[in-house]
Formats: sequence, structure tokens, C-alpha cells
Amino acid sequence: MRILAIETSCDETAAAIVEDDKSILSNIVASSQSLQKKWGGVVPEIAAREQVKCITPVLDNALEKANIKKPEKEIDAIAVTIGPGLIGSLLVGVETAKTLALVWNKPVIPVNHVHGHIYANFVNQHYPNPSSSQQNKSFETIPEIKKKPKGTSSYMSKLAINFPAIALVASGGHTELFLMRNKKSLQWLGGTIDDAAGEAFDKTARLLGFENKGGPALEQAAKNHEPPVNNASQSNIDKQTMLSKKQSALGKKHKLNLPRPILHDSSFNFSFSGLKTAVLRKWQKHKNHSKKLINEFAFEIQESITDVLVAKTIRAAKQYNTRSILIAGGVAANTRLREKFNYRLQTMNHKLFMPPRKLCTDNAVMIAIYAHFHHNFKDWEKIMAIPDLSVEKIDNPKVT
Ligand code: KG4
Ligand code: ZN
Repeated sequence: MRILAIETSCDETAAAIVEDDKSILSNIVASSQSLQKKWGGVVPEIAAREQVKCITPVLDNALEKANIKKPEKEIDAIAVTIGPGLIGSLLVGVETAKTLALVWNKPVIPVNHVHGHIYANFVNQHYPNPSSSQQNKSFETIPEIKKKPKGTSSYMSKLAINFPAIALVASGGHTELFLMRNKKSLQWLGGTIDDAAGEAFDKTARLLGFENKGGPALEQAAKNHEPPVNNASQSNIDKQTMLSKKQSALGKKHKLNLPRPILHDSSFNFSFSGLKTAVLRKWQKHKNHSKKLINEFAFEIQESITDVLVAKTIRAAKQYNTRSILIAGGVAANTRLREKFNYRLQTMNHKLFMPPRKLCTDNAVMIAIYAHFHHNFKDWEKIMAIPDLSVEKIDNPKVT
């Protein structure tokens, strides 16, 4: 089955065409981020206006890349993000999907954006830790998504995800933990009670003088503060040793003493607004905001957020006796977070899955893959945008 997926929940306009578990035929993402820079955040009206302009070229591009000339014949279903997200943005994607479904006479598969993020992990991607038997696999290799000739190997991991699994979604709007008993089931365990992890990155990054969606900029600044490590070694074992050395070197660096919010409470909830306030207070104590100071703050903020994400996810994995950990959402692109998970999982009998970085941030491939696993076909009339769609729905089909 060929699924055309559309994703417009925030300021990206994305379309992808995915064929079963075989091929990602196209993956197009347009962003209005550069237009939003001067406003210091996403302005919903600007995002939606740009999406109205972008949606047709993005769709054309996706069809062209997939070499699809007669979509009414070559596409079987249309998947679309219906929420949670910005109402104006969601409407662009949802109304487009409904129109295409009507014209092409196809069913629509509605997708929850947050749940969709998790399914980027089904793109061939496996980060073995050295305790696993996969030591010959390269530690940092991120395979490109390629169109695979028909009948050859799939984009999906051959090294299947072992269930039960814990899935962490850390994005600009959400920090959520789910228990997955099988590849279709998602049981919500907890989430942020105020700011999301990505929001904490973005807001503190802005305070340090970076632009909108400052997570990647903050990561870069934090790197400038890290002690140099020898990158020359190539083997997995060398890289893990390097990671361990780096871990202990970095562990001694915490001078700012930022909080690790609700790290030790028994819930699987998160809270990052206190961190933002703590950073603000400490930042205001300094008169000279030098580059060195910015880098130090960036480093300490990144340590605080990633410590909490890793600790809570691992606690959930232990409590539910799971066999795999999946991370997803824009923050899952963060190198330090990926390193920390890798480091912590060295001593756990767990597989770690992290999507290719470009599939951590918003895209339509993840929406298509979710739809591939959940053939929740609906008539176009039954589909609508739901900006406050709950992520907590327990979706637990019997199929394994
Ligand atoms: O999943 P996403 O693209 O959109 C939402 O669903 O919100 O996530 C965007 C968030 C932003 O907050 C962005 O700053 C953050 O992910 N992000 C990062 C990195 N790349 C994106 N945060 C930390 N480090 C990164 N490398
Ligand atoms: Zn997202």
C-alpha cells in the first residue's frame, strides 16, 4: 500500500510517500522558520499563511520525487496529522488531505502528531551499545534514506525493536513517555506539566541571544565548552571508551549548579519552567555576557535537560521491565542526549533506537509509517483538525 502523508502541525509543511515497509519514495519538508526569526517564536498566522503557499509545491515535489504521475491510481490512502498543533496550520494539512481524498476517492488515516514522532524509529536505524552483539555496526553511522528498488531490503530495521519498549517524545511542544507493548500500542505514562524540553531549549537559548528554535544553536555553543576529546578512534569499543572518559570529564564541570527539575519524584512527569527561571536568575547576576559565559550556560542547560530526560526514561524502562528504548521528537536530534542514552545503556540489556536526525524534527515520513501500522481508514467527511488532541489516549490493539 502506498500512503501519501501530510504534516502541518507547527511551522513545517511536509509531505512524504511511503510504500508499506519497503520504500520511502519521497520526503519533502519546507519550513517558515527563517521568516519567524525576528519574532522570537512561531507566529501562528505567519506559519499558516506560509503553509497555504507551500502546500501545493510541497505535494507536487513529493509526487514528482516518487515518480508518481497518476496519484489517483498510484496512491492508496492519505495520512494526515489532525493534532495536536496550531489550528491554522493543522487546517491547511487537514483540508488538503480531505480535498485529495474526495477528488481521488481515497480513505484518510488521521494521525496524532506526538504518536507519529515515535514511528520515525522504524526507519532502518539501530544504535547498538557495546554490551549487545552488534559491535561490528558503526556507532555513529546514520544511513541516508534511499529509494530501494522494489523487492530489495526494506527501510525498516532488520534488527527489530524488542517489545515491551519505552518511547520518549521530546519536542518543542511535548515531553511524553509511553509504554509500547507491541508496535501498535501506546500507553501514556507521563508528560510535562509545564514547558516541554524543546521549549526549555528554545526559551533559554533566546535568553542567551540565539534565535527562534535555538536548540541546535545551544547544542553548538555547549560543544565549545566541552573539553577536547580524541576523535581519532574508529571502532565501537574505542568510541565507547571515549564516551566514558568524556562522561566523567564532563560530570566534573557543573559550576552553575542548575536544577534537575522533578528528577527524583515517583511520577513520569516532567517540568522545565523552573529551569528557565533558574537560568534567568543566574544569567542576570553576570554583567559581562561573554562568548565564554554563553557557552558555559549553554553547556549547563543542555546537561540539566538531558540528565532529566535520560534518568526518567531509564527509570520507566526498569519499572516496566522493557527490552528497548526509543527516543523521538526534535530534541532527540541532540548529540549529547544521544550520547548519554548510549552511555547509560552500555550496562543495560536494552536496545536503543534513535531516528536519523532529520527524522527527529517534524516530517511526514513518521506520519506515513504510523499510518502503515494503524490502518485506521476514515471517510474524508469524518476528519477534522483537533488542536488540543490528547496524547494520552490508550491505544492498545491486541495484535502484536
Ligand atoms: O519535533 P519538532 O520538530 O517540533 C515539535 O513537534 O515541536 O521539535 C522542535 C524542537 C524545538 O524546540 C527545537 O529547538 C528542538 O526540537 N531541537 C533541538 C535540537 N534540534 C531541534 N533541541 C536540542 N538540540 C537539538 N539538536
Ligand atoms: Zn513535532
